[in-house]
Amino acid sequence: GVPLRDLAAEHGIRIGAAANPYLLERNRHYRAVLGEQYGSLTAENVMKWDTLQPERGVYDFSLADTLVDFAEKHGQDMRGHTLLWHNQNPEWLSEGHFGPDELRSIMHDHIETVVGDHFKGRVYAWDVINEPFRDSGGELRRNLWLRTLGKDYIAEALRTAHAADPDARLYINDFSIEGRNAKSDALYELAKSLLEQGVPLHGIGFQSHLSVGAVPDDMVENMRRFTDLGLEVTVTELDISIDMPASEEELRAQAEDYRTVVRNCLQVSKCTGVTVWGVGDADSWIPSWFPGQGAALPFDQDYAPKPAFGAVQEAL
Ligand code: XIL
Repeated sequence: GVPLRDLAAEHGIRIGAAANPYLLERNRHYRAVLGEQYGSLTAENVMKWDTLQPERGVYDFSLADTLVDFAEKHGQDMRGHTLLWHNQNPEWLSEGHFGPDELRSIMHDHIETVVGDHFKGRVYAWDVINEPFRDSGGELRRNLWLRTLGKDYIAEALRTAHAADPDARLYINDFSIEGRNAKSDALYELAKSLLEQGVPLHGIGFQSHLSVGAVPDDMVENMRRFTDLGLEVTVTELDISIDMPASEEELRAQAEDYRTVVRNCLQVSKCTGVTVWGVGDADSWIPSWFPGQGAALPFDQDYAPKPAFGAVQEAL
């Protein structure tokens, strides 16, 4: 069949996957599916702060470059993930080690080095701010950035990233914001106020870590209120988990959910695409983070296509 990446391109969107350099090197099935099917790659882990700046002022781009090189060789575009988050930060960056002035200069150095000096022109979009809201509800997450710098850390990071690479699309990315709820309402208000202040925010990433049977009915309407602000939207980390073991019926229901999410993106004129969070069920983060759940991706344990793959193909 025609690869997903080509079907997506006909609609002017990208279909992407989160990728991992270790698997790329070790598993030829993984490598083949990633290279053939997907037009956009996101680093699942290796562009996070603990990998890029393991010691203060010491940067290591070797693993990230493996992915960017693969992407360039395969004509794929690269999403950058992520600049400011509360997880996967190096030990030296722990909360309480720095006051506001020092933390601000650490933040500027990281963003300028990563977005500007190293990846400028090679990464088309950055998740500048990841998961700024609490797991549920509308409060900002009290992470190291908020506690030390106050809520303006968000505007400052976006401005710094924009100065470092004026062509990169800059995102706020979060989960459980796919439908209308207290969290997506709060994100909407934040996005609106940032735009009113002229802050360079270009898009909202809807992670979309979903459970089977739970694609919100109002996902299109919710995405549209953000695009009505002039923003683009992207489904950035799609997976649809099932209570294990997965039955045939659940795999069919999952396929319908994948179809729905892809169609939802196609129904929103400024939805730039859909990225799935991994290639096959063998490399998905779901079983280790949510014990008892799994089978969340369009390819199985052996990288053979599941009903979800066929549904995505049909949706495109
Ligand atoms: C996950 C990775 O998939 C795992 O390998 C890692 O152990 C933890 O992080 N939201 C995000 C992603 O923004 O960076 C997370 O990725 C999944 C949830």
